[in-house]
Amino acid sequence: MAGKWKRRLSKAAGYGVAVLLVVACVGITATVGWRPFVGPKARPLTARRFEATPARLERGRYLVESVSACFACHTTYDSKEPAKSYAAATNKGGGGTLAADGAPWLVAPNITPDAETGAGLWTDDMFARAIREGIGHDGRALFPAMPYQNYRNYSDEDVASIVVYLRSIPPVKNRLPQSEIPFPVSKLINTVPEPLENSVAEPDLSTPVRRGAYMIKVADCAGCHTPRGDKGEPLPGMAYAGGNPFEDGKGGAVTPMNLTPDATGISYYDEALFVKAIRTGHVGARALSQHMPWWVYRNMTDEDLKSIFAYLRTLKPVKHRVDNSEKPTYCKICKQKHGLGERN
Ligand code: HEC
Ligand code: HEC
Repeated sequence: MAGKWKRRLSKAAGYGVAVLLVVACVGITATVGWRPFVGPKARPLTARRFEATPARLERGRYLVESVSACFACHTTYDSKEPAKSYAAATNKGGGGTLAADGAPWLVAPNITPDAETGAGLWTDDMFARAIREGIGHDGRALFPAMPYQNYRNYSDEDVASIVVYLRSIPPVKNRLPQSEIPFPVSKLINTVPEPLENSVAEPDLSTPVRRGAYMIKVADCAGCHTPRGDKGEPLPGMAYAGGNPFEDGKGGAVTPMNLTPDATGISYYDEALFVKAIRTGHVGARALSQHMPWWVYRNMTDEDLKSIFAYLRTLKPVKHRVDNSEKPTYCKICKQKHGLGERN
């Protein structure tokens, strides 16, 4: 691989694999119909503008940088040390490819305010529609590795904050080609975007579990931790039960773990252990792979992290052994290869 392709961070890189194996087929499950040929369902753009207020800037910075990990994909930097280079990057939002794991054709665009090579000329609603509804500024269906299916849950106020913040970051001059999604996936993704016809109200954050339910969606934990079938569909009854291995190309794999409160999941965690794992990337002495973007989530507030844990505790326990210290073997539950797969 050419040098410039190599510099990807692990989250994006990881998604690359998941994307190829998994998301590539999202939407094929739906009745395909004529949609692939007539373009995606999209609502017309509006002229709405989001007023920049200090509160929105602050909220937007938090959501973009620490919760939704937008820059984990939309930035080019050293994938070997994402924890360090993500924090230090001065080209945040400048875009990059999801190449290191085999999707050089997938480009996370430059979303900085640079007028020539970035998003400087896009309207506020172009942003809002891309983030929640999966339609690019130019009307194309976005490949669903961009987690718009989960960001759809963002309230109107939160999406306004995200856009206000993205307008405030330093412009980065970085011209990138558009994604070249292989046929027929390039057509099939037209079935994925769903317009939002109504406004999305502020979430109910009145209890830790409710707050956690919102935060876990917009942080897209399910994007990695809920196993998917070969058409990209989340496996029924398996929410957060682990799967979707990131293969290292040498027969090894790192697989997102089972986060449900089953004995094969993280029933042994308590709140303090969870918060420490996300803040430090260590579960006791065990270091978490950088494919788990703890180095993004570690900047979440205590309240949000504790709420996510409270929510995880309410999940249906699912029996699904995943162990990254063991050699990957075939698992008949998720139909993928991962450590302890043969024992499921
Ligand atoms: C897992 C990687 C990933 C994450 C996380 C991610 N994106 Fe994206 N994003 C992409 C990719 C890849 C595309 C381009 C998809 C395509 O070309 O079909 C994209 C496209 C976009 C676009 C459309 C650009 C255009 O050309 O119109 C916008 C806007 C955007 N992302 C903003 C965001 C924001 C804001 C966040 C965080 C709230 C975010 N993205 C998080 C990967 C990601
Ligand atoms: C880009 C993919 C990805 C995303 C997104 C992601 N994870 Fe992970 N996660 C992983 C991988 C891979 C592992 C396994 C790491 C290892 O074993 O070294 C993991 C492991 C974990 C563990 C350790 C489990 C154990 O058995 O000790 C916890 C806890 C966890 N993730 C929580 C979360 C939460 C909470 C979120 C959302 C805020 C999240 N993850 C989002 C990929 C991801």
